[in-house]
Amino acid sequence: MARKSRSARGSRKAWRTAKGSDPHELYELSVQGTESDCAFIDRVYRQLRGRVPQRLREDFCASAQMVREWVSWRKSNEAVGVDRDAQVLRAARARLAALPEADRSRGSVLRGDVRSVRSAPCDVLLALNFSYFVFKTRSQLVAYFAHARTNIAPGGLMIVDAYGGSGSWTAGEEERNLDGFTYVWDQAKVNPITNEVVNHIHFRFPDGSEIRRAFTYEWRLWTLPEITEALVEAGFKKPIVYWEGTDRRTGEGNGVFKPTKAGEDCDGWIVYITAENGAVSRRRSTIGRA
Ligand SMILES: C[S@@+](CC[C@H](N)C(=O)[O-])C[C@H]1O[C@@H](n2cnc3c(N)ncnc32)[C@H](O)[C@@H]1O
Repeated sequence: MARKSRSARGSRKAWRTAKGSDPHELYELSVQGTESDCAFIDRVYRQLRGRVPQRLREDFCASAQMVREWVSWRKSNEAVGVDRDAQVLRAARARLAALPEADRSRGSVLRGDVRSVRSAPCDVLLALNFSYFVFKTRSQLVAYFAHARTNIAPGGLMIVDAYGGSGSWTAGEEERNLDGFTYVWDQAKVNPITNEVVNHIHFRFPDGSEIRRAFTYEWRLWTLPEITEALVEAGFKKPIVYWEGTDRRTGEGNGVFKPTKAGEDCDGWIVYITAENGAVSRRRSTIGRA
């Protein structure tokens, strides 16, 4: 049943409805945390290289929120996004065009398959919100990581995320009330033989309307050892898992990710994983010391 968001503001007329809503805008508002992604990227790259990164590539960029955030984050930053969907890239270009002129020229998007698109060597290549789970066999996953590596400058970083925990292996819906709408994460199917999953995102509105299956993901739920091993097989060095700390008051994640080899057995978790393209100068590397 659709519920009125607790945080819905303003008069009834100003509330969002399914009819007037752009699913990509709602996705950006409910799924992505691009400011904290930028802060994380700066932190891990600086620890590794002693400077902040400049050039970023966002694979599976969709509406290119991360591209926009990165070029706005620092005046010297440049970013390119890659996605194969022409329609979503049209929307991404329109959003980039709405940035202030000084930022806009440093961001762009390319259409194509992330496994074949070439771009200028970047300091950091991102595949976030589990998008690479679309590759369902080990050989496809390794081939993707190997191609990604060819687009990263020597000494640069690949950063991906992953999710898991006992709750990710069972079907069910989870709702989150946001500003004027409800985000629903629907784990519709889980196949323990293949580890393939089908997940949907629905959006529900205070007037009872709904955008059902705004997004559908047919993924393989990769485990952390499988991902880190595939990164190494693709030629990356030193894959590191960054585990999120726990807020003592709420028992939820606190948004602080630290490198560790010992995770917690919990219902749901999200991690970042970094891996280096090439050797690290010992003098500068502090990663792994938590
Ligand atoms: C979940 S969205 C990613 C959104 C955003 N990057 C994020 O962090 O939330 C997945 C996107 O991946 C794109 N995609 C899926 N497979 C792809 C491939 N092989 N090459 C390029 N884009 C792909 C889809 O077109 C879709 O826009």
